[in-house]
Amino acid sequence: MQPGSLSHDALSQSSASPYDAVPYPSGVFAQTHPDRLGTIGRLFGLRPAPVERARVVEFGCGDATNLIAMAITLPQGRFYGVDLAAAPIRRGRQMIQALGLGNIRLEQMDLLQAPEDLGEFDYIIAHGLYSWVPEPVREKLLALCGAHLSEQGIAYISYNAYPGNHLRELTRGMLQYHLQQFSEPQEQVRQARTLMKFLSEAKPKPNQWQQLMAHEFERIQQYPDAGLFHDDLSPTNQPFYFHEFIRAAERHGLRFLAEADITDMQVAGLTEEATGVMRKLEQCNLVAREQYLDFVCGRAFRQTLLCHQERAPNAELAPERAEDLFAAADTRPVSPAGDWARGKSQDFQRGKAIVATSTPVVKAALMILGEIWPSRIGFPELLVRSQERVVTAGGQPEGLGGDGPALGEFLVRSYLIGFVDLHAWPSCFVTGISERPLASALVRRQLENGPVACSVRHQTLRIEDSLGRALLKLLDGTRDQNALIDALTAEVLSGAAELFKDGQPVTHPDQVRTSISAGLESNLRRTAELGLLVG
Ligand SMILES: C[S@@+](CC[C@H](N)C(=O)[O-])C[C@H]1O[C@@H](n2cnc3c(N)ncnc32)[C@H](O)[C@@H]1O
Repeated sequence: MQPGSLSHDALSQSSASPYDAVPYPSGVFAQTHPDRLGTIGRLFGLRPAPVERARVVEFGCGDATNLIAMAITLPQGRFYGVDLAAAPIRRGRQMIQALGLGNIRLEQMDLLQAPEDLGEFDYIIAHGLYSWVPEPVREKLLALCGAHLSEQGIAYISYNAYPGNHLRELTRGMLQYHLQQFSEPQEQVRQARTLMKFLSEAKPKPNQWQQLMAHEFERIQQYPDAGLFHDDLSPTNQPFYFHEFIRAAERHGLRFLAEADITDMQVAGLTEEATGVMRKLEQCNLVAREQYLDFVCGRAFRQTLLCHQERAPNAELAPERAEDLFAAADTRPVSPAGDWARGKSQDFQRGKAIVATSTPVVKAALMILGEIWPSRIGFPELLVRSQERVVTAGGQPEGLGGDGPALGEFLVRSYLIGFVDLHAWPSCFVTGISERPLASALVRRQLENGPVACSVRHQTLRIEDSLGRALLKLLDGTRDQNALIDALTAEVLSGAAELFKDGQPVTHPDQVRTSISAGLESNLRRTAELGLLVG
């Protein structure tokens, strides 16, 4: 069965948990990876455990795809997943066995029954759990974080937030009333969509109410069926104000560290007056400041990082904290670089964002990052290479005392606004194309069952075209490009994969071969850029 869809087979099973009957869509979450948690911890002055040797537990891990994708790339790490539902744990164990992983263990267990000797963890993850379980389980989760987090450990907990969820709750009561007539999950999801469509279109001239309903209808249309069933239609779906969540965490000896998506903490797009008010709040109380930010933004979801109360996270910008991190960014100069090595201001672009800098070493660094993207480069190497480039272009480096802090400060500031990525771990995907390319074993295994593939960059991808899937499955490190062309041609000729040109299927053997050889190099490069290759 495809993740995210509902099948009659699944629905006809009688089972203890709705997650047994209706599989939750599997995937990975970069914002939960020890790399992300460790990076933010370091930037805020903690000394989190090295990513390579992280001890990680995920509560409510589902089929543990998130943990398995970490475990396969971090062989010295230790991973432990817990979930109440038996079926996803079974699927996770099958995958672990198929991949031969010895550093990950899964257990079917109710968190309420978790034993005291669970051990100590550097990183604790609970994604999509807190708001969707009853109060005793929520309390237990926080108690487990308080008791089992290592001294410098970091816990990640996501939850639905107020005030944004008040909007969602407008529809919840109506949906619950309507859905009580239907017992089958498949029908419930269909009826939820039908009711919301009906409500949003019920008046020829939509008033404010219809507009709100239309907004909610659009939102639920983005969800796969299984996601909608378990999230919006779940009997328990309890949002919290940020300050309520933090008070609950404090009762268990924990405190707020940061948001896992650090850009969520930035004040952007506000009026000058509102920005001024938010800046003033920054100086008094971080929790209050974050709470008011939620009021201003109408936040509906949070991914909060917690640490022990005795730690004293320090959000003051400290450029030297970038020094043991790795940077990555697909940045490029907006206009041709010209005489860039002098102190003239120059714009650089990443996606839609544009940032100006006049510092030569920073300009050189942004060019280098763009050229090597998506590779990550350690700060010391980036600094040296940037200084060399400034010299080659006729400029004068400022020496370590000037260039180092300037680059460090720029990288930290840019990370906060999402212009540059920082990492505590270099990762193990490769960007070059080797003689016999090797795709991640997890990806090759996942593609046997459907289009979902979790990259080494810890992103969930859907490989929709059959030829792309066939190529990835063939990348087992035994085939050079000629062998790949032979094997892919055979796949197309046998009908196992399809090849299109200008929207038309290509079936003639010579044309199939020519077309596959012409596209192979660029397809391999794309595969590498997505972080699917490990050799
Ligand atoms: C919304 S799913 C999230 C799964 C996964 N973390 C993700 O985000 O894709 C919630 C998971 O929590 C599990 N769960 C619910 N109550 C639990 C409990 N008391 N103890 C352990 N797991 C529980 C469910 O079985 C389900 O797999």
